[in-house]
Amino acid sequence: MALLIIGSDRANDFAKQARTEAPDRDVRLWPNIGDAQDITAALSWGPKPGELAKLPNLELIVSVGAGVDHLFRDPQLPDAPTIVRYVDPDLTGRMTEYVVLHTLMHSRRMLEFRDLQAARIWRYLAEPAADDVRVGIMGLGVLGVAAANALRALGFQVSGWSRSQKMIDGITCFAGPDSLDAFLEQTDILVVLLPLTPDTHGIVNGSLLSKLSRRDRHPRVPGPSLINAGRGQLQVETDILDALADRTLHSASLDVFETEPLPKTSALWEHPRVCVTPHNAAESTTESIVSYFLSTVGDLEAGRPLSNIVDRSRQY
Ligand code: NDP
Ligand code: OXD
Repeated sequence: MALLIIGSDRANDFAKQARTEAPDRDVRLWPNIGDAQDITAALSWGPKPGELAKLPNLELIVSVGAGVDHLFRDPQLPDAPTIVRYVDPDLTGRMTEYVVLHTLMHSRRMLEFRDLQAARIWRYLAEPAADDVRVGIMGLGVLGVAAANALRALGFQVSGWSRSQKMIDGITCFAGPDSLDAFLEQTDILVVLLPLTPDTHGIVNGSLLSKLSRRDRHPRVPGPSLINAGRGQLQVETDILDALADRTLHSASLDVFETEPLPKTSALWEHPRVCVTPHNAAESTTESIVSYFLSTVGDLEAGRPLSNIVDRSRQY
């Protein structure tokens, strides 16, 4: 029985850490896989298409990330292995920090204050208090719920939208496509924490942005803002730029992009009301990821039930 580390530009670090943490394990680093028949479990991020299908005894694929779209991109993804995604307090905590940081940045108009500072202008701008602002979170999963609770604790009015109906104390919950418009209408700051699936591809487009809060917005809220830390292909970047230009959208924080790294030619880089981060909203430590992988392998070997199994029919 051997373990394979495949894909990810951190693969070397993962292999080194796995060998340190589990010196008795046979840990292999793609492409040096040795006898393919030995490999029963893989830690993977964006494997080269077709490579996992070459492992006849593969029982388990652990995704380096919470999102698993990088696996479903492989048309030859083998059917047999159980897919487990990475769910860990380290990742959840980092994403919660990112969402809180960027929600406050937009509600407290920090991008505009940075510009005023650069021009040495001392000027007050109207700023809403947290309870003047309605934050709507698309995706009420592990990350969405943690962010929602943190924002609620700061006093924001928080709602969320998911596929199935939720009941969460203090959070207004919407579910399914029929309630999407009602959810958007009462959202001043839209936080996107959805997985990328055939159903969600391109969902953050011009039509969706045009439905964000128009009525009942508190006068101190300068306009709708967007925070996307889900996946880049959830969004249509030309529509975001158009929405910023005609003020349908006041400002945005984007951690993920249609093409990563974001091309140097993208107008998003220099837009004064956009904050760009390099898909680092929740970059977990090597130690946490490898520990999670090894403990999931241990559960599989001991016949214990696995957690965080991906539903292949939903692709998340
Ligand atoms: P979960 O699987 O726990 O939650 C996903 C949520 O999205 C669920 O509430 C689900 O609804 C909802 N959802 C899925 N499809 C639809 C749909 N068609 N319509 C409405 N709601 C839908 O995922 P996580 O919270 O752990 O992670 C979310 C995503 O965040 C990941 O898939 C990944 O893409 C991204 N991510 C980004 C990172 C970064 O650094 N930028 C780091 C980590 C993750 P339901 O509850 O009903 O199933
Ligand atoms: C993830 C990511 O999915 O880092 O965990 O994007």
